Amino acid sequence: MQVRRCAHLMIEPRERLDFDLSLLASGGTGLRTVVEWIALAPHRDEEITLSPEEMAVLGALSPSQWTALDELARTHPRAILQALLEKQLLIAQTDCDAAARAADESLREAHWRGLDAVAHRFSRWRDVDTVEAQRRFGEETDQTFLERLGTSPAPVRERVPASQRLPLPAVGDSSLDKLLARRVTCRNYDMSRNLELEQFSAAMYRAFGARAVDEYAPGIFLLKKGAPSAGGLHPVEAYVLVQRVDGIASGLYHYHPAAHALEPIRAMDAAELEALARTCLGGQPYFAQAHVVVALAGRFARNFWKYRNHAKAYRAVILDAGHLSQTLYLAATELGLGAFVTAGVNEVQIEQAFGLEAMAEGPLAMCGFGIRAAERREVEFDPNHAVWSA
Ligand SMILES: Cc1cc2nc3c(=O)[nH]c(=O)nc-3n(C[C@H](O)[C@H](O)[C@H](O)COP(=O)(O)O)c2cc1C
Repeated sequence: MQVRRCAHLMIEPRERLDFDLSLLASGGTGLRTVVEWIALAPHRDEEITLSPEEMAVLGALSPSQWTALDELARTHPRAILQALLEKQLLIAQTDCDAAARAADESLREAHWRGLDAVAHRFSRWRDVDTVEAQRRFGEETDQTFLERLGTSPAPVRERVPASQRLPLPAVGDSSLDKLLARRVTCRNYDMSRNLELEQFSAAMYRAFGARAVDEYAPGIFLLKKGAPSAGGLHPVEAYVLVQRVDGIASGLYHYHPAAHALEPIRAMDAAELEALARTCLGGQPYFAQAHVVVALAGRFARNFWKYRNHAKAYRAVILDAGHLSQTLYLAATELGLGAFVTAGVNEVQIEQAFGLEAMAEGPLAMCGFGIRAAERREVEFDPNHAVWSA
């Protein structure tokens, strides 16, 4: 059997608290700290605990050269090699574990950079309820925000005394100024009305639609959108939960940016869909009530095709998602609608809902838009009273 180490692997010495009854019996708290080696291998979804012996062997195995297991067993304990095969950190070329081999292979083929692959795989959330966690935290402590965290760092870094600043000319009140002034993250959506199809279409096109698909060179296609994108590749795509839009059945869709069309994925009734939206949105009910919720998912291989194992590539894909969400804010605001963006999302549940593979088409954020409610129930940051009069 030919084997090699998985392509990407980071190992972290991690401390945890362990309960030990004998320590309690001898008069202590029963708690002791344990430091262990944790393998973070992004072709696997789970973190894997290693013994020091396994770690030592991993450090001697090639991630590129296939070697016969019997040959490795001459210099390393066979039981350790077997354990690493079972943990899928050692990959067999044939025979066992086709799924592990395929997952490892797809990371190699997509030209992931190791650090970024680890960061992406292991920063995903599953079943996190941010609102519930905040409520519990509030109940567990009587401290105010200020007592807990202290004062915030200064709002602005000032490099010279005020007297040395060079004041710039006052800025006029352009239509862009007026639009930017009205951009307020919306946490209050009107549940009683449907969004008009034309408004839905306009916001989707302006935020996510392609204004051109250009064959830049034979076989190399770039998209032109309202937002910039690293290399003109636009690898971030919109997966949509349509909740209340005239003429569109509620459910899950993929937005085709070149055709400006929805690709149906699954029809869902309103209650089921709002529950899913809430789960995907880390339990944030105010965002789950938006007429339209959009998961922004990066097709990493499209960016990494050009920026192979590149130190900035993953960051660029995340930046692309940010540009798209701001464009959505502006498009929605111009239409008189509200919009939001959040990074507090359960990526795993988004992947499951839309059938995405985390390392191929990974959710990076969720945004959304809809008709603002007449009444403010949830807090919004509107210090200039651009949306709310008081
Ligand atoms: C990357 C990012 C993540 C955010 N995550 C959340 C979130 O989890 N929950 C939330 O209520 N708002 C979230 N927001 C919205 C911010 O709270 C909001 O932008 C901020 O309060 C300023 O308000 P404004 O957008 O109206 O200027 C997020 C914004 C950004 C850019």
